[in-house]
Amino acid sequence: MSRNIILATVSAPTNIAVIKYWGKASVEYNTPINSSLSVTLEQADLRAVTTVAASPGFIKDRLWLNGEEEENAATSKRFRSCVDGVKALARDKVDASGAVLATKADLQQWKVHVSSYNTFPTAAGLASSAAGYAALVAALSELMGAIEEYPGQLTTLARQGSGSACRSLYGGLVAWRMGSAAADWTDSIGQQVAPESHWPDLRALICVVSDQKKDTSSTAGMGTAVATSKLLKYRAESVVPQRMKEMESSILARDFSTFGKLTMQDSNQFHATCLDSYPPIFYMNDISRSIIRLITVYNAFYSPDGTSLRAAYTFDAGPNAVVYCLEEHATELAALMLHYFPAPPDMPKYMNNTSFYSTCREFELDTKLIQACDATGRTPKANDVKQMYYTRSGPGPQVLDALKDGTLDPTTGLNTYIPPQK
Ligand code: DP6
Repeated sequence: MSRNIILATVSAPTNIAVIKYWGKASVEYNTPINSSLSVTLEQADLRAVTTVAASPGFIKDRLWLNGEEEENAATSKRFRSCVDGVKALARDKVDASGAVLATKADLQQWKVHVSSYNTFPTAAGLASSAAGYAALVAALSELMGAIEEYPGQLTTLARQGSGSACRSLYGGLVAWRMGSAAADWTDSIGQQVAPESHWPDLRALICVVSDQKKDTSSTAGMGTAVATSKLLKYRAESVVPQRMKEMESSILARDFSTFGKLTMQDSNQFHATCLDSYPPIFYMNDISRSIIRLITVYNAFYSPDGTSLRAAYTFDAGPNAVVYCLEEHATELAALMLHYFPAPPDMPKYMNNTSFYSTCREFELDTKLIQACDATGRTPKANDVKQMYYTRSGPGPQVLDALKDGTLDPTTGLNTYIPPQK
């Protein structure tokens, strides 16, 4: 079966929204009721790595996620939209000497094998579907030499895999413009607002509150919210349009206080629409709320009038907190979180970045700050936070070496990925 297998491997980042996408305008096209904006995170810390292969010898499309074959996934609407969408943009594949490896017609006809893995918990509210579908579209485009007919066309394909994935095709700070039914949603696209180099001292501290799969999927939660929440409709029509403008201006001006305030307000409002859904949906838990209280007190301690913020929390469709800050306050912020959410005794890799972790553990927190934070009722306790990631904004998808970094066997096209033991 080794005849003519072509391969490509790509890694893609996650992104964490500061203006949330919540609610679909068109389920068919997977388009949103409001525009959104996110920070693309550094792939060295969190990423999806996807290998795709095409061959005349393959008898059907196959997909492996984190080493396990997903029997029906290859026929799902999400997967098909990405594969068939990229195939439509395929071009003849030539090698370095100009010899044709596969014609456009071959590529459109051949079946594909896909193997993808994440370096972080799947479906725990860490945007694994965003990284996964962005990696799928980017890997297929690389394999098939796809070229966009207009800027953002590939993001419309990733969007059909998972809405938030359209923002992971670019680095830095990325908007998803909601688009319109009038344009057949071809204008519902991801668009870079600023590259990662624009705000080099922006940091994110991710507190993994739970690494379990979430109860209500985003898709189901959005469905209930659109059908029942009047607050969601008000948010989409009367709040987000202005907030998007203010958020973009704050990013262009690198104004952390405005960026942070809008981020927290938007997270709060998104979770308010979940509570306003009928029946209500709860994504945050008591630990999430204790993190909100600590960040609120931390900001007020240094800026009682709230004009100069040091940290900004945001929560997606799960209990994990992502706290944005600037590098100058990152050590203190992480030290504060480590004080209240210490590592369990047997966990040396509690934080992904070991040198930052030891710097934080040596940091002496102001005793008055601790007193103020103690007043929230939180007492230091291990295991409420399972793990922390310290990261920054990073680039969009990266092409890797399919033979060295890939997870499909180049002679059989079968999965080779084995998940690491926990
Ligand atoms: C809360 O992109 O996962 O993270 O389009 O149904 O796959 P589907 O939803 P998905 O929803 C993400 C929701 C969010 C907010 C955001 O990332 O903007």
